[in-house]
Amino acid sequence: MILPKQFSVSTLRTLTFFLCLLLVGCQILETPSPLSDSIPLIPDILNFIDQRLALVFPIIQAFKNTITSDPLGITATWVGPDICNYTGFYCDNPPDNLTATTIASIDFNGFQLTAPTLDGFIDQLPDLALFHANSNKFSGTISPKIAGLKFLYELDLSNNLFSGLFPTSVINIPTLSFLDIRYNFFTGTVPPQIFMQTLDVLFLNNNNFMLTLPNNLGDTPVVYLTLANNKFTGPIPRSIRKASSTLIEVLLLNNLLTGCLPYDIGFLGNVTLFDVGANLLTGPIPWSFGCLKKVEQLNLARNLLYGQVPEVVCALGNLANLSLSYNYFTKVGPLCKRLIQRGVLDVRKNCIIGLPDQRSAKECMAFFSIPRSCPNPASFNIIPCQIHWTKPQERTKRHLLSYSAISRNRVLL
Ligand SMILES: *[C@@H]1O[C@H](CO)[C@@H](O)[C@H](O)[C@H]1NC(C)=O
Ligand SMILES: *[C@@H]1O[C@H](CO)[C@@H](O)[C@H](O)[C@H]1NC(C)=O
Ligand SMILES: *[C@@H]1O[C@H](CO)[C@@H](O)[C@H](O)[C@H]1NC(C)=O
Ligand SMILES: *[C@@H]1O[C@H](CO)[C@@H](O)[C@H](O)[C@H]1NC(C)=O
Repeated sequence: MILPKQFSVSTLRTLTFFLCLLLVGCQILETPSPLSDSIPLIPDILNFIDQRLALVFPIIQAFKNTITSDPLGITATWVGPDICNYTGFYCDNPPDNLTATTIASIDFNGFQLTAPTLDGFIDQLPDLALFHANSNKFSGTISPKIAGLKFLYELDLSNNLFSGLFPTSVINIPTLSFLDIRYNFFTGTVPPQIFMQTLDVLFLNNNNFMLTLPNNLGDTPVVYLTLANNKFTGPIPRSIRKASSTLIEVLLLNNLLTGCLPYDIGFLGNVTLFDVGANLLTGPIPWSFGCLKKVEQLNLARNLLYGQVPEVVCALGNLANLSLSYNYFTKVGPLCKRLIQRGVLDVRKNCIIGLPDQRSAKECMAFFSIPRSCPNPASFNIIPCQIHWTKPQERTKRHLLSYSAISRNRVLL
């Protein structure tokens, strides 16, 4: 146990005893009843190995008292002064005092705990660096006080019952690098500042966010951008090109995105997964997509896209799945036909004469009776890279991380 030399055990005891008296006294004045359960524990408090643990003890016990369901019996271990041994809690030496011991991380992944709020809990653990709580039943809103957590770098609140607005206070946590709030009930907009923050991972999928994608989207340094299954609107901003050196996986499927695919997407030379399926995107596929040299999964299915499927796209050497079904494409060339035969390209339910399982002539005519156009039409036929017309190789499918984000219980770290 880490016990600083300059303290004798008895001075430490006296100190913590008065500290706790003070704390419990204050708590009683503020909230008369909830803490009464933990009062019998006071004698144990004498054995805290660090005063930082003595300080968080009443916070944890107060939170424990708010838990209404604990089917796995996790909180049964949250007794006594040995907080570092509580299930889900991890101690470490904080950066501001390497001889102190404090709660540095919490991992409640899969604990199935139910509590009405985390307010007054995580925001009161000042040294917290990691908080992971995938697959619990925590609800309420996120306290703006979490902005005070000066060491926080991973926040995973995924697959809970949180509601209300985006926890905007996170934009004031400069250390934050991982933000996963997918599978909750957050609504309203997302502050554009989040795309300027130095995050690696931003998972916002499966909420009810409603927002026109901001023009600064491309300022984001994230590697994984998953905004899928929300109500994002507007066109994909041309600024996405600015993220070309960092972006690897882009999941925008199942939103309400409109407009034409910008030429600029073709500059995302490191992207392995680009999925904008099930939106309201229209226009042709820009030939610049033939420069997505690393793309393995390209999903544009269930949109309002039309024109010829560019042969340069079918020539992409790493393609394992090109999904273009449920659009209004009218033509495929020989390279694309070869991909259809190999089961890589899916063009079901389009308007391609001579291929099986297409839309009816009536449906296609109705679609094309409405005049359609895209801004900057000349950009659609520009290929901003060298193309090597090699015969596409058979590819084995790799595990792509972002698709795990679409399944609710998957833990990504
Ligand atoms: C930690 O808890 C386990 C059981 O959960 C127990 O066996 C062990 O003795 C505890 N360690 C300490 C140092 O209290
Ligand atoms: C660092 O932590 C130790 C253990 O809690 C404590 O005794 C010491 O006073 C702290 N040092 C500073 C500078 O706060
Ligand atoms: C791919 O990533 C590397 C390393 O981050 C970077 O140097 C390179 O410019 C990126 N490629 C493109 C096309 O941006
Ligand atoms: C290809 O991708 C689409 C869209 O993501 C998906 O529905 C389909 O199952 C995939 N096909 C294969 C063979 O993996």
